[in-house]
Amino acid sequence: MKSVLVLYWSRGGHTARIARRICESVGEGGGRAEMMDINEAVHEGVDWGRYDVVAFGAPVLYGTYHKDVFAFIAQHQAPLEAKPSSFFNVSVVARTPEKATIEGNRYMQKFLQLSPWRPKDLKVIAGKVDYPSWAWYERVMIQLIMKYTHGPTDPRTVIDYTDWDDVRAYGKHLLALA
Ligand SMILES: Cc1cc2nc3c(=O)[nH]c(=O)nc-3n(C[C@H](O)[C@H](O)[C@H](O)COP(=O)(O)O)c2cc1C
Repeated sequence: MKSVLVLYWSRGGHTARIARRICESVGEGGGRAEMMDINEAVHEGVDWGRYDVVAFGAPVLYGTYHKDVFAFIAQHQAPLEAKPSSFFNVSVVARTPEKATIEGNRYMQKFLQLSPWRPKDLKVIAGKVDYPSWAWYERVMIQLIMKYTHGPTDPRTVIDYTDWDDVRAYGKHLLALA
């Protein structure tokens, strides 16, 4: 049975939900999948030999990724490159079709510039707007992005932009990379 490791960093829990859906989909496809927060991976270690494919996902925060994402990659570049691997990013700008492509999503381009690990397989996933759960200064920042990209600015807005069927298809795709 092919096995997939889904590593992730998540601030608000949405990327964790995506990782979980990916794992469910791998299971539906006849594979085995495990998800692991990179914080856990750093502290508990990863038995890389157990997996045929590795995926790694992180949300975009303030136009980039949390420093722990790059620290993890720098530390584990060799095992990440040793087998088929994929990176997925999660952002609210990816809610529009043109920014949901690898070329059209500047945060994906930024990842490729900053990461020493260059996975051949990449995936852009739309995330969640959740103004009520964010601090006022975070809300203001996202409202600005939204104003600029013609998205919702009402501070009561909670919208999940993730295409969950597409996430499921990505899980199947990962299994096929094995
Ligand atoms: C502090 C903060 C900054 C963010 N910055 C951006 C951004 O620059 N561009 C963008 O498209 N989305 C941005 N987002 C939206 C997140 O990428 C989105 O909410 C994602 O679903 C969060 O995933 P998580 O719950 O796993 O942390 C930001 C969200 C927060 C809370």
